[in-house]
Amino acid sequence: MSKTIFITGASSGIGKSTAIYFASKGWNVAATMRKPINETELINYDHIKCYALDVLKEENIQQVFEMALKDFGAIDVLVNNAGYAALGPFEAATKDQIVKQFDTNVIGLMSVCQQFIPYFRKQKSGTIINIASVGGRLTFPLYSLYHGTKWAVEGFSESLSFELRPFNVKVKLIEPGAIRTDFYDRSPDTLKKEGLTVYDAYADRISANYLKAAAAAPGPEVVSQIIWKAANSNNFRLRYAVGSGAPFLLFLRRVLPDAWFMGLVRMFLNKE
Ligand SMILES: NC(=O)c1ccc[n+]([C@@H]2O[C@H](COP(=O)([O-])OP(=O)(O)OC[C@H]3O[C@@H](n4cnc5c(N)ncnc54)[C@H](OP(=O)(O)O)[C@@H]3O)[C@@H](O)[C@H]2O)c1
Repeated sequence: MSKTIFITGASSGIGKSTAIYFASKGWNVAATMRKPINETELINYDHIKCYALDVLKEENIQQVFEMALKDFGAIDVLVNNAGYAALGPFEAATKDQIVKQFDTNVIGLMSVCQQFIPYFRKQKSGTIINIASVGGRLTFPLYSLYHGTKWAVEGFSESLSFELRPFNVKVKLIEPGAIRTDFYDRSPDTLKKEGLTVYDAYADRISANYLKAAAAAPGPEVVSQIIWKAANSNNFRLRYAVGSGAPFLLFLRRVLPDAWFMGLVRMFLNKE
C-alpha cells in the first residue's frame, strides 16, 4: 500500500516541491495550503489531493486531518513546512507582527503536532518532520523575530523527540540554508515604522545581500530530497542540514567562539 505524507504550506517553494517529489515516488500526498482554489499545478497529479489549511486556524487543523485520514486511510509522515520571515529592525515591529510570526512558525506548527501525536502514538509509528532552518542554530541580522521562532522550533522538536521515541514516533528537523523560493520576495513581512529611518541604509545593504545569496542558492528540490531521506529513515537521527553550505556554516558555528563567528557574519553581510 502507498504511504501518505501530509504537508503544510504546499502552495509554493519547499512545500510544493516536496509534494511533487513524493507523488513522483508513488506516495499519496495531502498537500495543504491556505488557498487551494488558486492551485493550478498540484491538482494535475493523481497522488496529490489539495486541502485548505491555515495553520493559524485551530479548528481547521482537526477538520483537514480527519479529511485526509478518511481519504487516504492512514498517514505516515507529517511535514510542518508552513512559515515565513519577518524582516527588518526589531524596533520597527508591531505587536501584531511579532505575534503573527510566532503564531505561524511556532504555535501553528505545535498545533499541527498536537493533532497528529495521539494518532501516531496509537499507530505506534509515524514521522514528524519540522522545517526549521540553519537560522535555528545561528543568526543573521534583521531576522531577530524569525530566528526566535526557528530556535524555538529546534528546542521544541529536540525535546519532543525524547518523549515520542518510546512509541516509535520519530521527530526530524530539516535545517535548510538559503533556498531559492518565494521566501525572499513574495513571502516576507517587512518591518518598517514611519519616521524610523536610522536603520534604512543598513537594512537596504543587508537585504540586498540576502537577495544576492537567494539568487545564487539552490532550488527547493534539494530540500525535498533530504525530506525524502528523513521520511524513509529507519533511525532516530534528529537533524538534517541541507543546501547553500548549511553543514559547513553549522560546523563553523559549533567550533568558533561567538565573537569570531559573528564577526564573519558582519563581514559577509555588511559589504556593499
Ligand atoms: N527558502 C529558504 O531559504 C529557507 C531556509 C530555511 C528555512 N526555510 C523554511 O522553509 C519553509 C518553507 O519556506 P519556502 O522557502 O518554501 O518559502 P515560500 O515559498 O514562501 O513558502 C512558504 C509557505 O508557507 C505558507 N504559509 C505561510 N503562512 C501560512 C499559514 N498561516 N498557514 C498555512 N500556510 C502558510 C505559504 O502559503 P501562501 O502561499 O498562502 O503564502 C507558503 O505555502 C518555511 O518554514 C521557511 O521558514 C526556508
